[in-house]
Amino acid sequence: MDASNLPKLEIKNAYLHNQKAYKPTASFVKKANVKQWNAFREKANKDPLAYWEKAAKDLFWYMPWQKVFDDSEKPFYKWFVDGKTNIVANCLDRHIGTEVENKTAIIWESDSGLKRKLTYKQLFYEVNKLANGLKQLRIGKGDRVAIYLQNIPEAAIAMLACAKIGAIHSVTYAGFAASALRKRIDDEGAKILITSDVGYRRDKELDMKHIVDEALQGNRTVQNVIVVQHGKKPVNMKKNRDVFYEALVQPQPKYCDTEMMDAEDPLFILFNSGTVERPKATVHVHGGYAVGVNQSFKLAFDIKDTDVFWSTADPGWITGHSYTIYAPLMAGITTIMYEGVPDFPRPDKIWRLINKYGVTILYTAPTFIRALMAQGDKWVKPELLKSLRLLGSVGEPINPEAWKWYYTKVGRKKCPIIDTWWQTETGSFMIAPQPTMPLKPGSATMAMPGIEAAVVDKKGRKMPVNKSGFLVIKKPWPSMMRTIWGEPQRFKELYFEPIPGYYFTGDLAVRDKDGYLWMQGRTDDVLKIAGHRIGTAEIEAAVTAHKSVAEAAVIGKPHKIKGESAKAFVVLKDGFSPDEKLEKDIKKTIRKQLGPIAVTDEIEFVKGLPKTRSGKVMRRLLKDHEAGKPLKNTTGLTERH
Ligand code: PRX
Repeated sequence: MDASNLPKLEIKNAYLHNQKAYKPTASFVKKANVKQWNAFREKANKDPLAYWEKAAKDLFWYMPWQKVFDDSEKPFYKWFVDGKTNIVANCLDRHIGTEVENKTAIIWESDSGLKRKLTYKQLFYEVNKLANGLKQLRIGKGDRVAIYLQNIPEAAIAMLACAKIGAIHSVTYAGFAASALRKRIDDEGAKILITSDVGYRRDKELDMKHIVDEALQGNRTVQNVIVVQHGKKPVNMKKNRDVFYEALVQPQPKYCDTEMMDAEDPLFILFNSGTVERPKATVHVHGGYAVGVNQSFKLAFDIKDTDVFWSTADPGWITGHSYTIYAPLMAGITTIMYEGVPDFPRPDKIWRLINKYGVTILYTAPTFIRALMAQGDKWVKPELLKSLRLLGSVGEPINPEAWKWYYTKVGRKKCPIIDTWWQTETGSFMIAPQPTMPLKPGSATMAMPGIEAAVVDKKGRKMPVNKSGFLVIKKPWPSMMRTIWGEPQRFKELYFEPIPGYYFTGDLAVRDKDGYLWMQGRTDDVLKIAGHRIGTAEIEAAVTAHKSVAEAAVIGKPHKIKGESAKAFVVLKDGFSPDEKLEKDIKKTIRKQLGPIAVTDEIEFVKGLPKTRSGKVMRRLLKDHEAGKPLKNTTGLTERH
């Protein structure tokens, strides 16, 4: 990659020099589902409960709720109390017998050239068969099922099959290594694990089964491993534990009853990194999650029945759950799943696929946009992009330069850019434009209808215009996480105690004079590397797993493409001295402990780390040091080996 092509990365103060608003085109507004976005938002915000109740009525319920919202046990809020549903009844069952059943539900392609299409009817049968297979393996309501798969149709089938029978799925991103996977499986107490023999990424074949075998060493809860045969080589199967997916599913009947779930029954657990080494197990439920995801999708993306939607997110992250799988299926439209990275073998792969499948909405992360931008405009041929009518961005702040490139080159100035701010914890979009409102490059605009967001100080007081503060959500919403699996107290402490009365997002933001919000990154030690969320503490634990390391501290550094990269400051044990080989070796340990996404770009060997009197590492000082600021009290930091 030519360094002169690298986009600038000025995100933090974008609001100061980017006040120009881009208006939607008249032809977009003419066809938009909601034309008067301001009036729509005002109505929703006047009576959010009525708004959410109306949104819930868009879905199928076996039994209606008795009460829309219950806050009698704050902050363990309940939505659609006593309502009975199942997200799968909404994703699949209700489409069967309608004209949607013959529509394509999933289009899948992989880097390795494999392809598959499933209609709603076919997907329905596949899900039913796996659901019956799971039942045969004695999986039922409330059991946890671990899923370790790349972005292949079986990932969607597995999630839906679990939900169908009331089991709770927990997907781990296939970029995580064995010990990270082990921690997650142990924490949730999974009874079964669904994986594949291999996965494909660029020209690499990942030996996923091997990672699973390593992760399960010493595990006592997993009784069976279901293995999707994705590659061609023989697979090492463990007797009495492992079963091939095909062998399990093939003989099963193609109908399976959908379990009637309470609105508040857990649907899935998804781990995410925070400020301590142990990731948090976020719990989402069948009812409110479905309502929030369905409503936000239809509204922010102006969904039409004819849409072909491509979210490049992997099912291992919340975007993959909410918007690659659940939302498009609830809406009865076509979703694209792509295994690998669609810039391989050439950077125009993504545009060719958009043309091939007539993709109308592309939803991706700024990192990928910047990477494509850096490859040069020659790859982005307008004739391949004709089907696109709307573009989305997610996962990290988008810098105005990348926004404008996306808007001009990919969107050809016709497609609104929907920059969606949200989190694993929020389940669905919190701050995102309505597609007919004026947009400002780099701003996620305003809170979604029915959501009340604010920028406040430590005491919860509203910050003045153009002053950075904590982003909070003032009122509960249906798709919010319900708890941390097994740790309700931690849930309360992390999200509701920092600023009493509000949901604490952990992000900083600025509100400009027009009420537009500008995200400024995290207030805590959570990094966003290529849009992937990873806590510095989790990386530090991986670094210190190396035998030579006495202590380590990790910070985030701005990175032109990835938004942020990790740098580790390492103090070695006596008897070890730094050299290139050791540096490589430590990186290998991180890869082994956590996976390739967490490998630090840089390691600096130092004699000591700056600490508070109580012994806490002061990462802020490390960041200042990195920025070249002169420091006091940095014992050992500047004394290199
Ligand atoms: O810092 C915010 C950033 O990603 C964090 C949530 O990460 P995760 O739970 O992995 O979910 C990512 C996908 C929703 C947030 O606290 N973030 C997410 N979307 C944006 C963003 N930062 C700026 N702009 C966004 N659109």
